[in-house]
Amino acid sequence: MIEPVYSAAENRYECGMQYRRAGRSGVMLPAISLGLWHNFGDVDTLSLSRKKLHYAFDHGITHFDLANNYGPSYGSAEETFGQIMKSSFAPYRDELFISTKAGHDMWPGPYGNWGSRKHLMASLDQSLKRMNLDYVDVFYSHRYDPETPLEETLQALVDIVREGKALYVGLSKYPLDAYLFACRYLKERDVPCLLYQGRYSMLVREPESQGILNAVKESGSGFVAFSPLAQGLLTNRYLNGIPDDSRIARGGFLKKEALTPEVLNKIQALNERAAMRGQSLAEMALAWLLKNETVTSVIVGASSVEQLGDSLKTLNHLSFEEEELHAIEKILM
Ligand SMILES: NC(=O)c1ccc[n+]([C@@H]2O[C@H](COP(=O)([O-])OP(=O)(O)OC[C@H]3O[C@@H](n4cnc5c(N)ncnc54)[C@H](OP(=O)(O)O)[C@@H]3O)[C@@H](O)[C@H]2O)c1
Repeated sequence: MIEPVYSAAENRYECGMQYRRAGRSGVMLPAISLGLWHNFGDVDTLSLSRKKLHYAFDHGITHFDLANNYGPSYGSAEETFGQIMKSSFAPYRDELFISTKAGHDMWPGPYGNWGSRKHLMASLDQSLKRMNLDYVDVFYSHRYDPETPLEETLQALVDIVREGKALYVGLSKYPLDAYLFACRYLKERDVPCLLYQGRYSMLVREPESQGILNAVKESGSGFVAFSPLAQGLLTNRYLNGIPDDSRIARGGFLKKEALTPEVLNKIQALNERAAMRGQSLAEMALAWLLKNETVTSVIVGASSVEQLGDSLKTLNHLSFEEEELHAIEKILM
């Protein structure tokens, strides 16, 4: 059956989505954003990708996070997004905040990776074509490159904004010192770092322990948390074994070795805590991140519309009692 032409839900901004300011910028992002790292490649069904993207936008998700090599295959998540951009989202371009990144392995040879000006410029041009866009809202340096002078990477970001190919820039997974240097460099050129994107969840606490969250707050960037559900560990997915259709079973980045007896015990205890709050584990895990006002948005992944719907229910109950937080810390110790 041919799907009808998309028309966005009229009540999309009245569904309970909260919008939070990205640091000290003018930009508001939805508290929950959707990432296309997994589940939107050419190995996935286009109709399901379309349904998830429509559902997200219909429920107030305005921010979609991509990167050059999301798939598999590399580039195919951007192609999927580009198809939906053309067929559904084109009339809504100004309501969308779209990011992409470069810096991880993308094409063969010396220019297909890392932080050179050559790689960043060429990669963004490719991304814009795949996504059917004239510009992205944020362009990220996807990772710190210890071999390339940081000034080269940063000046490429500045020039990309000057050329109008990105409205803002961001940094992902940068160590603290490099982030602080980058913030100063970018600010002096009137292209402040809008967003720091880091892995952060109840199970992964480095942004706290490495001082990133404090630095981001002081520098005036926003912080967006990726893999906020620890790739599915902080959900009901693995409470009773490894489902055949799960990320672990499909052999992605999440390995079955990650599901140690210790982690399983923690997940089960957290799941009981979540039930006491009347939430799913996924909802509680996202609420726990969003209690920190430095966290502008959590970028979730989803292999089904139902998962996305469940994650969005988080917004119905974000607050925690002190006693609950203590109990959660005890479980996580
Ligand atoms: N900057 C970087 O280097 C970087 C790195 C990684 C990710 N990211 C960004 O962060 C985004 C999210 O990463 P992620 O996919 O690892 O996020 P995640 O939200 O931690 O994990 C997503 C997975 O969790 C499961 N899930 C999600 N919601 C669920 C729910 N409500 N109930 C049960 N299970 C649920 C699904 O697993 P199943 O597939 O098993 O169903 C889903 O694929 C990426 O798409 C990307 O945009 C950035």
